[in-house]
Amino acid sequence: MTRRIVIFTDDPGWHGRQLKRAFARRGYAADYLSLTDCRVDLSQASGVAIPGFGHALPDGVFVRGVPGGTLEQVTLRLDFLHLLPLLGVPVYNPVRAIEKSVDKAMTSLLLHRAGIPTPPTWVTESESHARALLMREIALGHNLVLKPLFGSQGKGLMRLASPADLPPGEAYQGVYYLQRYIGGETGSWEDYRILVAGGKSRAAMTRKGTSWINNVAQGAACRPAPADPELSRLAEDAVRALDMEYAGVDLMRDPEGRLCVLEVNSIPAWRGLQSVVQDNIAALLVNDFLDRHVIGESRERCA
Ligand SMILES: Nc1ncnc2c1ncn2[C@@H]1O[C@H](COP(=O)(O)OP(=O)(O)O)[C@@H](O)[C@H]1O
Ligand SMILES: [Mg+2]
Repeated sequence: MTRRIVIFTDDPGWHGRQLKRAFARRGYAADYLSLTDCRVDLSQASGVAIPGFGHALPDGVFVRGVPGGTLEQVTLRLDFLHLLPLLGVPVYNPVRAIEKSVDKAMTSLLLHRAGIPTPPTWVTESESHARALLMREIALGHNLVLKPLFGSQGKGLMRLASPADLPPGEAYQGVYYLQRYIGGETGSWEDYRILVAGGKSRAAMTRKGTSWINNVAQGAACRPAPADPELSRLAEDAVRALDMEYAGVDLMRDPEGRLCVLEVNSIPAWRGLQSVVQDNIAALLVNDFLDRHVIGESRERCA
């Protein structure tokens, strides 16, 4: 019987092809599907209809994207990721991990609660509160970074250096996520991206930005990161605090040289990272998923 995996993605691209190849090397056929194609169907025993699977279910699900939409559409798409594990289908990353990391406020709260160094951060719906905070931080000699709550790839970030820089709340979906700017000055921008899987740091790079936003999608250059046990340990601690199976962790040194965690991505891209490390990252993730979740799970299901 063919062993089948679903890769949920609306844009398979290079990452999709890398994963499909890595699954094939392990004897699994991987199909690309969109979460928008799944249906609730209570005439089936499982209650879920996945295109191309009839009444059957895949052996595992690798999530590469949850498309945005109305609150109702996103809720339905997440329902499938909640339900599949209840039906014995392992989902990588688990939906709880995805929900936590898509929401930057929750990521920051959980890092803070776990005692993991992360820059001072404030999240509010109130424009007057955001303005007062910005004025206070400026008076202390700081800038603030304003981020979309659901942002990614460095899109929509603003550095605020004056109260006049604060945009109206509507521009940020009514939520101000504000964080103290801890980066360097012109020309010395860099941060780190560490990939953690199965509890261990597996690959690391330094990203040197063309601006203070050091995302690869914003043109940052990738270099192998020097081996640094503190960097690895902090990334591993952050992923544990968010209870993720794997993640891409963004870290930066503050002006005092202390490492801080900026972000933990549950659906990270790894093309830039792959360009500076030897190990095949797709294979590393696929092996981690199959060995720790799918194979153990199917044995349990047969028992
Ligand atoms: N508080 C901060 N201080 C300095 N630079 C920051 C700060 N927050 C983010 N950045 C820069 O912006 C980039 C994108 O921020 P991040 O929080 O990772 O959002 P995204 O989800 O868009 O990647 C980071 O990799 C870093 O280079
Ligand atoms: Mg990031």
